[in-house]
Amino acid sequence: MINIKYHKVPQSRVSDVDFNNLPFGKEFTDHMFIAEYDGEKWGNFKIQPYGPLLLSPSLSCMHYGQAIFEGMKVYRTHKDEVLAFRPLENHQRMNASAVRMCMPELSEEVFMEGLQALVNLDKEWVPHIENTSLYLRPFMIATDDFLGVSASKTYMFIIYGCTVGPYYTKPIKVKVETDYIRACKGGVGEAKTAGNYAAAMYATRIAISEGFNAVLWTDALEHKYVEELGTSNIFAVSGNKIITPETKDTILKGITRMSIITLARTMGYEVEERPLTVDEIFDKYASGALDELFATGTAATVTSICQLNHLNREILLPVKEDGVAVTLKNRLENIKRGKAEDVFEWTFKIFPTNIEKVMSSEGV
Ligand code: COI
Repeated sequence: MINIKYHKVPQSRVSDVDFNNLPFGKEFTDHMFIAEYDGEKWGNFKIQPYGPLLLSPSLSCMHYGQAIFEGMKVYRTHKDEVLAFRPLENHQRMNASAVRMCMPELSEEVFMEGLQALVNLDKEWVPHIENTSLYLRPFMIATDDFLGVSASKTYMFIIYGCTVGPYYTKPIKVKVETDYIRACKGGVGEAKTAGNYAAAMYATRIAISEGFNAVLWTDALEHKYVEELGTSNIFAVSGNKIITPETKDTILKGITRMSIITLARTMGYEVEERPLTVDEIFDKYASGALDELFATGTAATVTSICQLNHLNREILLPVKEDGVAVTLKNRLENIKRGKAEDVFEWTFKIFPTNIEKVMSSEGV
């Protein structure tokens, strides 16, 4: 067990939160968990009030981009239990990103105990209202004060929480991107690293100015194969088939993506993970064989796509309330919220601990 030092806020801010009108990404909880890597090992574990960090201007992550993160959600069930959704997958993916970005891996113990300690302390921030959750953002940054270009020796790992509403409040309009690229073979597209999100912003800004919500990235060589969609993965539904691009070095291994594939298969759908071209989507639409398009992601959960544009071609898809996307979303949400049996053992119960007791036993 790791030894965490606690510095609690004198007064929680949770009573100021309007849980019925939650935006995405603005309501940060009272505390954050911090761990430091000294070049050899992780240590100096602490929980302190959420707030600004004092950082040197020469911190290497700010210049050379060694920064990785995860996104995961925590839910409150009708029995008042607090459940994290597949946190061990986030831990594994974070370590995969760390290896790719020459950063140190974290033990499961540090990741999971830090997470549980934070959620326990800030459990009043876990909402129970439909479409809301506690979003956790574990991240790691390089912290050497050094101007030379090389992998940092020291790092900081932080987990903070944000009580959130939906990322997308309605079905989305998407532009197939044919000028800019997000990732290429041999690059870092598969890693959840900050630079991938920065690289996506320019094309996304143009698409938003044209009336879209997100871009659908295509392969860097031919702009022929579809890859990620904004911050999510894409699925196309055609009869009993659901098609999604296979994950490879340009596509993040989405945890919601994996879960939806499993759920769809158990519902009898044939799920194909394979190369999917823009033309195949448009051809299926033209022949009446495209039933639905949807995006999956931790923040986005399952979001229907109502419009897809590629150069001068357009797909318009009315959202079906009893359609595949909505059905899969509801099934997944029911598991996450403890309303349906968790047959796949995806949820991780955060057992309440008596923080005051932990703190006093550690002499804090
Ligand atoms: C997530 O779905 O957790 C993401 O990482 C998207 C985020 C950048 C808002």
